[in-house]
Amino acid sequence: MSRTASRTTVGIVGGGPAGLMLSHLLQLAGVESVVIETRTRGEIAETQRAGILERDSVRLLVDSGVSDRVLREGHEHRGIQLRVDGVGHRIDFQELAGASTWLYPQTDVFLDLAEARARDGGDVRYGVSESSVADVTGDRPAMLFTDADGRDHEVRCDVLVGADGSRSMTRHSVTGRQEYVRRYPFAWFGILCAAPPSCDELVYARSDRGFALISRRTDTMQRMYFQCAPDESVADWSDDRVWAELQARVAGEDGFTLLEGPIIAKSVLPFRSYVCEPMRHGNLLLAGDAAHTVPPTGAKGLNLALADVRVLAEVIERAVREADRSALDHYTPRALDRVWKAQHFSYWMTTLLHRTPGAPPFDARRQLGELTHLVTSRTASALLAEGYTGWPRSGRDGGATRPASGIWPEPTR
Ligand code: DHB
Repeated sequence: MSRTASRTTVGIVGGGPAGLMLSHLLQLAGVESVVIETRTRGEIAETQRAGILERDSVRLLVDSGVSDRVLREGHEHRGIQLRVDGVGHRIDFQELAGASTWLYPQTDVFLDLAEARARDGGDVRYGVSESSVADVTGDRPAMLFTDADGRDHEVRCDVLVGADGSRSMTRHSVTGRQEYVRRYPFAWFGILCAAPPSCDELVYARSDRGFALISRRTDTMQRMYFQCAPDESVADWSDDRVWAELQARVAGEDGFTLLEGPIIAKSVLPFRSYVCEPMRHGNLLLAGDAAHTVPPTGAKGLNLALADVRVLAEVIERAVREADRSALDHYTPRALDRVWKAQHFSYWMTTLLHRTPGAPPFDARRQLGELTHLVTSRTASALLAEGYTGWPRSGRDGGATRPASGIWPEPTR
């Protein structure tokens, strides 16, 4: 069967939040794009992912006209609780960094973006199969795929973007990658449960049994995680066993207990730090999880993907406007500035709160020393508050072009 040939300016492989946000920003800049995605819209919407947006991610959604639903239905969090061996300590983001985060699950970010793309006539092909890319380092790279109706296509473009997640097909189509990987001897066991919230803010708990995170979703549905072995089997964990473990990890003299309910979903989340450099290979540019993954502690993954595509939209717009691909040279250094800050932050928050199996007792005592410093020093807790709420755009990350929000005052830092 013959392929239908067409062309566009930017071909985007991956219709998750990174690919859709890029396509949205490019349209605002007058640049045409086509997005292909192997999953259906329904499949993506059903995937459970993290739930915390940095202040600038919220601004991007609202100010670029995707949706202001996050402001109406999301929950502003002005701090978090660090719980160390059953004793709670509040980290006040507003006081320390002049910023908040928003609890707004990635699923909702995706739904808002998918809706905005449909509203604005964006070309997004969900449910494609047999997708591949060709001539990625040449002048006219292509996306090849079979659409949801079984028709074969070849879309030629000027620039190709790989926003196709951690198992990225586009990344594997290029050679000469420098990869940086760090593995961890643990994973997270994640649950979704039908219960009222146990607390107003997120609780990050360190205990001798290991880490636990008490997050939220709605007034009737909650998300929680606890550190487990990488090869943990979901089948070994009855609801009762899950609740006993979570309760034990947060228990303390203040009597804090979790409000329990039926567990709707259980899964084991992989854990690794990964960066692929450079993020540009000829006319293929990698964004989001296709270029880097972070361990989930601190919820940087989605925020980092949105920061990537904000930079990417700017450099692609310049390259198109000036008909000069050298503008694309700025992508890797600008994006990597933030990527490595976020890598450090996610690694740091992970090692700060998790128990490393088999580590010498020294390590646990040192960790407690670090946590004591963190919760008693304004300087130390400000570092956490700044990293968690997201570093302002600055220097190579493009501070000068930050859009004025009008919704929030500029931070006082
Ligand atoms: C959530 C996930 C995280 O990794 C995190 O650090 C905070 C919250 C969540 O899914 O709600």
